[in-house]
Amino acid sequence: MKPRPLEGQRAVVTGASSGIGRAIALAFAEAGAAVVVNHHSDAEAGEAVTKDILSMEGRAVSVGADVSRPRDVLKLFDAADAHFGGVDILVANAGAQADAPFLEMTLEDWRKVIDLDLTGAFLCAQEAARRFRRQGLEPNRSAALGKVLFVSSVHQRIPWAGRANYAAAKGGVKLLMESMAQELSGEKIRVNAIAPGAIKTPINAEAWDTPAAARKLLKLIPYGRIGEVEDIAASAVWLASDQADYVVGTTLFVDGGMSLYPSFADGG
Ligand code: BGC
Repeated sequence: MKPRPLEGQRAVVTGASSGIGRAIALAFAEAGAAVVVNHHSDAEAGEAVTKDILSMEGRAVSVGADVSRPRDVLKLFDAADAHFGGVDILVANAGAQADAPFLEMTLEDWRKVIDLDLTGAFLCAQEAARRFRRQGLEPNRSAALGKVLFVSSVHQRIPWAGRANYAAAKGGVKLLMESMAQELSGEKIRVNAIAPGAIKTPINAEAWDTPAAARKLLKLIPYGRIGEVEDIAASAVWLASDQADYVVGTTLFVDGGMSLYPSFADGG
């Protein structure tokens, strides 16, 4: 049997009906966690993830919620309470892109991405921290009072033409994570982020799903392959587990070296 570093823990994973969120929900369940599987519009896909978890004898429940709405966010944590008796881990993963050249970016494009990727992450993290505090420390479950893991992006560091809204949101997530970690780690709330590079998911399909696009993308990835969702899920399990108990306020870049300015590899 595989090791189960999240045995007995309860997690809320936002945006868990596809891509990175789905892989994290499945990996968490495999690692022993009960999972609130959040979807936004695709209830069927969320249910399918839940069914997959139940079929491997895990514990999961699907909950529809728009994380940019405070009332919806409460629903996620109420479900964790009702079904699993509390929450130990939040993975703030839900996100979207609405790309446009800067001068053509509408206020709607801007707000959509900031509301979901940054404000949604804030709302979920704030509610998670409230719940952790209310529950109190249970050392048999986890060394921390609770864990928050933001799924950020290499674009919290790498500026991104044509995606000013997304880069601004992810840059915001970086300092949201660090400020929160600084403020709350004294009470054993452990806050970190993962910054994925180019991972094969629906959000960026046009960047990898033809050989020409994949060749172009690979020029940006020193390690020479496009990432898989499992690459991110494995890091998320570790960061959320007690094995990473001394990791506080850190962003783990899981990007095949994308953030290393690969265009300078030959001396620039
Ligand atoms: C974006 C993807 C992009 C990747 C690397 C991610 O945060 O969502 O669309 O391929 O960063 O640029």
